Amino acid sequence: MKIAIFLFSGTGNTYFIGKKLQDGFKEKSIFCDLFTIEKKRNDNQLIEDYDVIGLGYPIYGSDVPLLIKKWIDGLKMQNHKKAFVFCTQMMYSGDSAAYGGRLLEKKGFIIRQQAHFNMPNNITDYKILRPFNKHNLKKIEQRKNKQVNRFVKKILIDKKSRKGSNLISLCLGLLQRIPYQKIEMKWISDTIKIEDQCILCEKCIELCPTENFEIKDGILKTKNMCIACYRCINHCPVNALHSSKNALVKYPYKGPVENFNIKDVMEDCITTHEMN
Ligand SMILES: Cc1cc2nc3c(=O)[nH]c(=O)nc-3n(C[C@H](O)[C@H](O)[C@H](O)COP(=O)(O)O)c2cc1C
Repeated sequence: MKIAIFLFSGTGNTYFIGKKLQDGFKEKSIFCDLFTIEKKRNDNQLIEDYDVIGLGYPIYGSDVPLLIKKWIDGLKMQNHKKAFVFCTQMMYSGDSAAYGGRLLEKKGFIIRQQAHFNMPNNITDYKILRPFNKHNLKKIEQRKNKQVNRFVKKILIDKKSRKGSNLISLCLGLLQRIPYQKIEMKWISDTIKIEDQCILCEKCIELCPTENFEIKDGILKTKNMCIACYRCINHCPVNALHSSKNALVKYPYKGPVENFNIKDVMEDCITTHEMN
């Protein structure tokens, strides 16, 4: 069996789970490649080479990130290819994996498994959410290993397990998603704030998955293409970026493990092909 995981990860959590899944498959001698959808490629052609497709993304207000929606939109109709969906969240998202699953089903995929992985919160410029940010990264790693192993097992024995595919989850998902889509998304995309302490280091330009930043006349500006992934906000070296007035980043989220390299989330992880 050949598996391809496609994912988007703003600040590293989804990448961390995707990588663990890849390692879990490798341990069972199953071939698994991991691709970031940030890279421009012909993914339709790529998908043809794999038996099972995995899709991973972070949850934004019980919604699927815009980049993922666009990526699914660009897929051609499949002939019943098997797929699994996983998403990462801070606490709760209702039917978020099921929502991505439904989008893939419309493209002809057969969804067999869906899972939610609770990970550290990456919203770091809201006072009310900051207390959640005191994480024991070692404990997270141990707990996630167990959950990932269970998920890998389900995929390998093809056990149907669709987290979020029930009426209660759907209702709770809609309760968050409808206001998020109507109000917050527009609000965030229009309002990445750039403070005077910006030193024009261009790190945000380098990291942004939507090329939202540019320097014009010696000033950093945005092009209103923000998808609220919080990567720039958490990695600005002088904490000059945030999403709304009076929201400052005191404790940026630098990723799920010590010394996490944020640039890793922008790279594919291709397995060596010796285990064919
Ligand atoms: C704009 C935004 C909205 C979010 N909404 C939710 C939510 O509704 N429920 C939840 O549990 N976590 C929510 N989170 C937290 C993220 O889903 C979580 O930290 C995720 O693991 C980040 O993944 P990443 O590091 O791969 O980007 C939200 C984060 C952002 C940036």
